Amino acid sequence: MPARVLLLFLFVFAAPAMAAGDAVRGKQAYAACAACHGAEGAGNAGLHAPALAGQDAAYTERQLQNYRAGIRGGTGGDTYAQQMRGMSMSIGPAQAADISAWLATLPAPRPAGSLPGDLRNGNNLWQGKCGACHGSSGEGYPALNAPRLRGQEAGYLRRQFLAFRSGERGAHPDDTYGKQMALMAKTLDPGKELDDVLAWLRAQDGPAQ
Ligand code: HEC
Ligand code: HEC
Repeated sequence: MPARVLLLFLFVFAAPAMAAGDAVRGKQAYAACAACHGAEGAGNAGLHAPALAGQDAAYTERQLQNYRAGIRGGTGGDTYAQQMRGMSMSIGPAQAADISAWLATLPAPRPAGSLPGDLRNGNNLWQGKCGACHGSSGEGYPALNAPRLRGQEAGYLRRQFLAFRSGERGAHPDDTYGKQMALMAKTLDPGKELDDVLAWLRAQDGPAQ
C-alpha cells in the first residue's frame, strides 16, 4: 500500500477524543506510581518501568485502559506487563485521565550516552519505516496515535518491539492501535536493524556525535 494511502486510512480510524484530565489532581494521584516510574516520570530501567514524562496524554490514558481491560498484559506471558496490569487496577478511569494529563506537561527525559549501532543505517530505516507514524525524530504523532519514542529507555523499547513481533502485545482483538504496530514490527529485523534504529533514536537526544 503506498504510504499516502496508508496514512489516509489511519486518519479515518483516528482515536475518538477522550475527556481531558485535570493535571493538578493528576500530580497528586501520581504519587502511587512514583516508586517505579520516578518522581518526575523519568522511568527506572532497573525496575523495567518506562519513562512516562512528556508522552501524549491520550496514548498514556489508552495504555492504562488497555492494561486494566487485559488488552495489554492479559496473556500472562510477560511478567512486567502483568505487574503493570495489577497497578492499573488500583486507579479508576478519571484518575487515569488526570495522571496522563499531568505527565504530558512534564519534559521528556534525555538519556545520556550513546548506543552501539550504525546511525546512518538507523536513520534510513527510521525515515523509511517508522517516522511516518512516530515523527521524523521520534517525537510521536498523536493524530496517528503513535507515541513518542525518543527519550525512552532502549531496553524497554526493544522489549515492546519484540512483544509486538511475538504477538504478546497487539494481538488482542480490541487492540486497534496495537494491531497497527504489530504489523509494522514485522517489517524490521529484530537484530542489527533494531540495534541501528535504537542507536539512532538515542542520538536524537544524546550529546553531539
Ligand atoms: C511496581 C512498579 C510499578 C508501579 C507502582 C507502576 N508501574 Fe507503570 N509500569 C511498570 C512496568 C514494569 C511497566 C512496563 C510494562 C510492560 O512491559 O508492558 C509499566 C508500564 C507503564 C505504562 C506503559 C508506558 C508505555 O510507554 O506504553 C504506563 C502508561 C504506566 N506504566 C503508568 C503507570 C501509572 C499511571 C502508575 C500509577 C498508577 C504506574 N504505572 C505504577 C511498573 C510499575
Ligand atoms: C502505521 C503507523 C506506525 C508505524 C509505521 C510504526 N509504528 Fe510503532 N506504534 C504505532 C502505534 C499506533 C503504537 C501504539 C500502539 C498502542 O496504542 O498500543 C506504536 C507503538 C510502538 C512502540 C511501543 C512504545 C511504548 O511506549 O510502549 C514501539 C517500541 C514502536 N512503536 C516502535 C516502532 C518502530 C521501531 C517502527 C519502525 C520499524 C514503528 N514503530 C513503526 C504505529 C506505528
